[in-house]
Amino acid sequence: MIPINMPKVGEEEAQAVLEVVRKGPLTNALGMGPKTVEFERNYAKFAGVKHSVAVNTGTAALHAAIAAVGVKQGDEVILPSFTFVATAEAVVLAGAKPVFADINPETYNLSPSAVEKAVTKNTKAIMPVDLYGFSADIKPLKEIAEKHGLALVEDAAQAHGATYEGKPAGAFADAACWSLYASKNMTTGEGGVVTTDNDQIAETLRMIRTHGEKAKYASLMLGNNYRMSEIQAAIGIVQLQKLPSFVSKRRQNAKQLTKILEESGRLVLPWESEDRQHSWYLYTARLKDGTQEERNRLLEELKKKEIGAEAYYVNPVHLMPFYRENFGSVKLPETDKASRQVFSLPIHPGVTEEQVEYIGKTVLSLI
Ligand SMILES: Cc1ncc(COP(=O)(O)O)c(C=O)c1O
Repeated sequence: MIPINMPKVGEEEAQAVLEVVRKGPLTNALGMGPKTVEFERNYAKFAGVKHSVAVNTGTAALHAAIAAVGVKQGDEVILPSFTFVATAEAVVLAGAKPVFADINPETYNLSPSAVEKAVTKNTKAIMPVDLYGFSADIKPLKEIAEKHGLALVEDAAQAHGATYEGKPAGAFADAACWSLYASKNMTTGEGGVVTTDNDQIAETLRMIRTHGEKAKYASLMLGNNYRMSEIQAAIGIVQLQKLPSFVSKRRQNAKQLTKILEESGRLVLPWESEDRQHSWYLYTARLKDGTQEERNRLLEELKKKEIGAEAYYVNPVHLMPFYRENFGSVKLPETDKASRQVFSLPIHPGVTEEQVEYIGKTVLSLI
């Protein structure tokens, strides 16, 4: 089976881990061990901002960022439902209400006009997601945020290597949250990062990461244990160096696959432009006018042919029992339609040119 994603770790990562295991420290009580500090310095440079705060998952990054921008009980946060559930969890963990807005069908990302309509006097933040690794419409969203005095927290969990107007994804938001989970473009096994240009948000994030402390036994605010271990950070330093080559191979595979699939009139294919470059975390196509049954049948057929195609977010968050029961029903026609028609194909750096050709031709033969 050609898996949909697969971590690419090697001897350099193994050596980096061994060094930490042999010499220590394994972690640091304030989350600021030497490897973590080095990783953060490098990651901030990569993200084109002043600060990066490393944490232990992307979910922790989202929760810490939402809390750090001041979201609290009674507030509302506008976000897409067409995302991984962690985006919404961060809002609920902060005691706030997730307000789901519909997507732009061209990008699968939060629609600025839908966001504008969802703003109320209780809205505190907007939380766009760079779905599949394609930057959200961040400038129009930033205008809305500025007009209404809202925080902009970007879920960049899938966006390592994506750009918006030449800047790295996340650079226009008040805070951007990244995942380093094993499937992502770069990984530390589990892990996460928050990046920001804002000194105050960075200071608050560092406290939230470690029990609200700046010094031991003197909590200044509610925190958690969101610290990254030195082992994770050591892997992250190596993976970050390799990231450009990973993204370049993903881009090459995506281009090749698009060339093959373009022949079919039945598919809407992912795109990028000079101005808005994809991270190519997931190559997601859409079956034009297709039904859910047809899409699911295609996935089954692809699996039979050893192609690990997947459909992500088939049950958008607003339809999940917990969210429907606690936050009511909401109509999101573009979200619902996309969730029935999309499917993703493997293009990770381990996929060879021959395999891309096999994947493309197999899809063409099945649709
Ligand atoms: C869009 C999105 N948000 C949040 C997360 C959560 O990240 P993690 O799994 O590292 O907690 C993920 C990754 O799984 C994701 O894809």
